[in-house]
Amino acid sequence: MKDKKMNIKTSNNKYGIIRKINHWLVATIFIGLLILGVYMTNFDDYDLYGIHKSFGVILLICVLIRVIWLQFDTKIDNSNLTKVERIGSASIHGSLYILMFVIPISGMLMSMAYGHGIHVFNWFTIPMLIEKNEAVFHFFGEVHEISAYLAIILLVGHIGAALFHKFIKKDDILNRML
Ligand code: HEM
Repeated sequence: MKDKKMNIKTSNNKYGIIRKINHWLVATIFIGLLILGVYMTNFDDYDLYGIHKSFGVILLICVLIRVIWLQFDTKIDNSNLTKVERIGSASIHGSLYILMFVIPISGMLMSMAYGHGIHVFNWFTIPMLIEKNEAVFHFFGEVHEISAYLAIILLVGHIGAALFHKFIKKDDILNRML
C-alpha cells in the first residue's frame, strides 16, 4: 500500500514535507534568478537588478534553512539505485549545494565591492561587509557568472535525470519529491 501520510521528516521512500517545500521553492527562485540574470545583463535592464538581488538574498536564506534542517532530517534510501546513479546524483546534488551558496554570496560581494548596498525589497538592508574595490568587483563578477553558467549545465543533467527516471526507467524517484 502507498504511504499517503504527509511526514515532516523524510522516510525511506519519500522526502518529508519541509524538504519538499524547500526544494520546490528554491527550484523556482533559483531557475527564475538564472533567467532574470541572463536577461538583465544581456539587455542592460538595470531596473531589474534590485529584484534580482532581493531574491538572491531570499534564496540564500532558504538554502541556509535547508542545510540546517538536513542535520535533523532522515536520509532517504538509495539502495535500489545503481552504483553509477548513486555516484551521479550525489555529485550533482553536492555541486548544486555548493553553487547555491557560491552564487548568491559572490553576487552580494560583487555588489558591495562596486559600492552598491543590498536592499531586500525595502524590507531590510544587508550591512556592507567589504569596501569599494574595482579588482574585487571584477573577481566576484567572474565567480558569479561562471558559477551561474555551471549551475545551468548541472541543472540540465539534474532535470534530465528526473525525467529519465519518470519516463524511461518508470520508477518512483520523481514521485518521492512530489
Ligand atoms: C524543474 C526543476 C527540478 C526538478 C524536476 C527536480 C527534481 C528533483 C528530484 C526528483 C529530486 C529527488 C532525487 C532523489 O531522490 O535522488 C531532487 C532532489 C534535489 N534537487 Fe531538484 N529538481 C529541480 C530543480 C532543482 C534546482 C533548481 C535545484 C538547486 C539549484 C535542485 C537541487 C536539488 C537537490 C540539492 C536535491 C537533493 C535532495 C535534497 O537535498 O533535498 N533541484 N530534485
